Amino acid sequence: MTTLTELTELSESAATCTRCDLYKRATQTVFGEGGAGAALVFVGEQPGDQEDKQGHPFVGPAGRVLDRALADSGIVRSDAYVTNAVKHFKWTERGKRRIHERPGSTEIRACRPWLEDELRLVRPRLIVLLGAVAGESVFGSSFRVGTYRGKITDASVGSWQGPAVGTIHPSAVLRGPDPEARDQAYAGLVADLKVAREAAGL
Ligand code: URA
Repeated sequence: MTTLTELTELSESAATCTRCDLYKRATQTVFGEGGAGAALVFVGEQPGDQEDKQGHPFVGPAGRVLDRALADSGIVRSDAYVTNAVKHFKWTERGKRRIHERPGSTEIRACRPWLEDELRLVRPRLIVLLGAVAGESVFGSSFRVGTYRGKITDASVGSWQGPAVGTIHPSAVLRGPDPEARDQAYAGLVADLKVAREAAGL
């Protein structure tokens, strides 16, 4: 069986996942997507409102920041597989809006077997942890973005072992209080992604 077929089967199994309660309020499971033999796997937090509706990872505002940062750091999409630590959208209602809520440790742990399987099949050279939830999924709750960002740390996720680089979540760029802060956050993201690209030999 090809890796692509196995990944497709894996995402079909994940579509009916009930390992935690998040499936009850989410529209659908949002599984990872990208090159089956991608050199880099990008791990985000969880699907947002747009991703939950469309069924694809990083297609909303944070995804646009990620796409731009990939291009600016010299990473081509075919070298990337993009997924999330948690594969259902966790949200609370505010008026008519669905507001993102951070997944808890129980949900992060419940979802980790899917990430383990994705890494076992894609076999990337390196993984990039986009923010604290991705970091917690891989390194546990002691993970801090400030400690791990832009650095290469050995990681072990199920049967996959290899280097990991931490960085901020792309949505942190959007949350910057003013244009200068946003530019600075974006430049930091791109710098961290360049470290990842070079460490992966791309
Ligand atoms: N934020 C994430 O962490 N993942 C997505 O897919 C979208 C937004």
